[in-house]
Amino acid sequence: MNPAALFKVSYGLYIISSLKDGKTNGQIANTVNQVTAEPAQITIAINKLNLTHDYIRASGVFSASVLSQIVPMKMIGQFGFHSGRDIDKFDGINVKTGLTGAPIVMDYSVAYLEARVVGELDVGTHTLFVGEISDAQIINDHEPLTYAYYHQIKGGKSSKNAPSYIKEEKQAGERHRIHQCTICGYMYDPEKGDPDHGIEPGTPFADLPENWDCPICNADRTKFIKKGETSETYKCKICGYIYDPAKGDPDAGIAAGTSFDDLPDGWKCPVCQAPKTEFEKER
Ligand SMILES: Cc1cc2nc3c(=O)[nH]c(=O)nc-3n(C[C@H](O)[C@H](O)[C@H](O)COP(=O)(O)O)c2cc1C
Repeated sequence: MNPAALFKVSYGLYIISSLKDGKTNGQIANTVNQVTAEPAQITIAINKLNLTHDYIRASGVFSASVLSQIVPMKMIGQFGFHSGRDIDKFDGINVKTGLTGAPIVMDYSVAYLEARVVGELDVGTHTLFVGEISDAQIINDHEPLTYAYYHQIKGGKSSKNAPSYIKEEKQAGERHRIHQCTICGYMYDPEKGDPDHGIEPGTPFADLPENWDCPICNADRTKFIKKGETSETYKCKICGYIYDPAKGDPDAGIAAGTSFDDLPDGWKCPVCQAPKTEFEKER
């Protein structure tokens, strides 16, 4: 089996929120799916180790906030790489109480759904909860965030508790790596692809067709090498975020092309806020 095929499945990104004994919590999930229209039902796959799992089990209700493309990476880090057992995730977040009593994250959300659990399936590491929708509202007309946009444009990672996590950090570094033609110096940038020759933006060098040649000098793929030291990616040991100099960290004012060494000392991981010292060079 080729696990990369699973990366071709499309998802959105959501904050699933619930409550237990008056306490509230939420987590990032990419596994919200509408499964029927009448009645309107959705499923979510929630890791059994997550606090949110306990809360959904206890209350039998949950909400799903549909995240906006402009959600800061820090917020995804707060809800996707930390547990409500350690921090109050709703601190400083605009949350409203829904008709079911479930908390609903309103910040950086374009819409929300609220549901009562009407069934569940044990799928090993996760429970697949089936929820019948009690309420659904649109908050604004911003673009919803897709999983692909989160990965390709925002440079985001999956937590190991996400069902779609496939030890992908290493692959991700490779997926974004620029390759240079040793004959003419042309740089193949996966983010740009080679649209003139039918190669879509987001296509890693490794996925280029066998017959793809350098668009400048027609050298074949074997004449390409990975771009040198300055394009080395660095991985956060805490959350797996990969700093890619080709992208920089525009949210933090770091321009594309800034090497890891040139990042200011005070720069922090945009996902989990770990300092530079928690990063290691990817192999
Ligand atoms: C991009 C992304 C997608 C995720 N998708 C899921 C998911 O679908 N289901 C799940 O259980 N966890 C998913 N997670 C992981 C949880 O958000 C994470 O384990 C969280 O820390 C759990 O928090 P809690 O213990 O407060 O409930 C995802 C994380 C990220 C960053």
